[in-house]
Amino acid sequence: MTVEVEIDDHSMLVDASKQTVDKEVFCELAGLAAWAKVADARDAMLSGAIVNTSEVQSALHTALRAPRGSRIEVNGVNVVDDVWAVRDAITGFAHDVRDGRFLGATGKRITDVINIGIGGSDLGPALVYSALSTTIDPQVRVSFVSNVDPTNVTRVLAGLDPATTLVVVCSKSFSTAETLANARIAQRWLADALGDAAVAHHTVAVTVDAAKVSSSGIAASRVLSMWSWVGGRYSVSSAVNVCNAIAFGADVIDQFLGGMRAMDEHFAREPFERNAPMILGLIGVWNRSLLGRGSHAVVPYADALGLLPSYLQQLEMESNGKAVTRDGERLSTESSPVVWGGVGTNAQHAFMQLLHQGTSVVPVTFVGVARSTTTHHAEHAALVANMIAQSAALAFGSSHDDPARAMPGNRPSTTIVLSALTPGTLGALIALFEHVVFVQGCVWGINSFDQWGVELGKKMAHEVAAELASGVPSASRDASSIQLQKWYLRHASRA
Ligand code: F6P
Repeated sequence: MTVEVEIDDHSMLVDASKQTVDKEVFCELAGLAAWAKVADARDAMLSGAIVNTSEVQSALHTALRAPRGSRIEVNGVNVVDDVWAVRDAITGFAHDVRDGRFLGATGKRITDVINIGIGGSDLGPALVYSALSTTIDPQVRVSFVSNVDPTNVTRVLAGLDPATTLVVVCSKSFSTAETLANARIAQRWLADALGDAAVAHHTVAVTVDAAKVSSSGIAASRVLSMWSWVGGRYSVSSAVNVCNAIAFGADVIDQFLGGMRAMDEHFAREPFERNAPMILGLIGVWNRSLLGRGSHAVVPYADALGLLPSYLQQLEMESNGKAVTRDGERLSTESSPVVWGGVGTNAQHAFMQLLHQGTSVVPVTFVGVARSTTTHHAEHAALVANMIAQSAALAFGSSHDDPARAMPGNRPSTTIVLSALTPGTLGALIALFEHVVFVQGCVWGINSFDQWGVELGKKMAHEVAAELASGVPSASRDASSIQLQKWYLRHASRA
């Protein structure tokens, strides 16, 4: 129940021995993976087959970290060459910014980048930035703007100088309302300070749809491409991560992608009983479908990984939060659990009580790091001790005459430990979860790469926004929403 994965000079321990899985169940789960043909589906995905059937697309995030010179074809075109052309462009641009060859419009060096994006165009780069900046000093600071709440962008802009700031507008589709609204505010901020002509110079776009960019005041030469075969929540290995190449250097991002690649190879080659994504994926199915556990807590014992629960929320819930199979049949089992969490030890003083003694059993994934990022080694050991103690207390509990003090135990967890938090181990950790989610989707028969469930809300928000602007709710809207709109209009601020 324990697998060790080598990543360059480092390693990752995946310990699933505190799951409620014995040898017999493990063999049954291996049989379930064989029955669901997970290995065939994995090979199909890695080779560029159309696995996103509803959108008739490959899902080739693994091609983004394939070695230069390798070959993966989509419609007869070797995508690895295209991937490396963009990687080279990112490397060149990041060097130019970091070495001062690319200067702001007034001739000043770039000190800050704002990444404007949401969902996969925000959560991945934000996780990478917050994780790596604990061990590597970013030469250029990165701020993240995602929410359409103008408080978010206003707060970020207030702390920055337009003359030394580069704005990266990250949107695979380049049609996400929140991102475009925030980009307009940031571009106005640049124009007010530096003049209209400077806006294009200070703005970069990351998107599939270069044609849409021209109307946004961004130069065609400042577009870094992605491809429709990269899902948003699987895009951290794409140009979406350009802000981190600028912050830490392209060599650091190469190491990050190298770690992802190491996990891809592990997933592709290891037999089931030594394959970490296969084992964790099947254990997730066991907990959700066979034991009915409705939620999954992610508790990193590392401040550096504080954004991991939010990242995994999108990865897992947007991928597998579905009730029909790839063929449109109603699922006969439960699919994705609710994913949530927070950092240890804070979690112990907030929600761990429920996990130890509540009426619901919540499987936990603990993530820790062996090597401290500070010189406070004793305190770091205390942090790790707490993580190990929590998993043991959950698993084994303790008896007591007073029922209020009795700890039931038998509560499952997995513990993942990185020997050190490096760009490579971080990449491997993220790729591990990408593959776990894929494995689960395969067993459930789900298409993990579409997200039709988010569309209706977007459309309705558009309609309600028009009604709010006109001051008249549509008569065909439901009574609750009409009341909310009217109440809002009575109290809202006006331009
Ligand atoms: O609304 C869902 C979603 O499409 C996510 O899947 C995606 O990561 C996010 O919106 C942002 O999309 P885009 O990168 O196209 O702006």
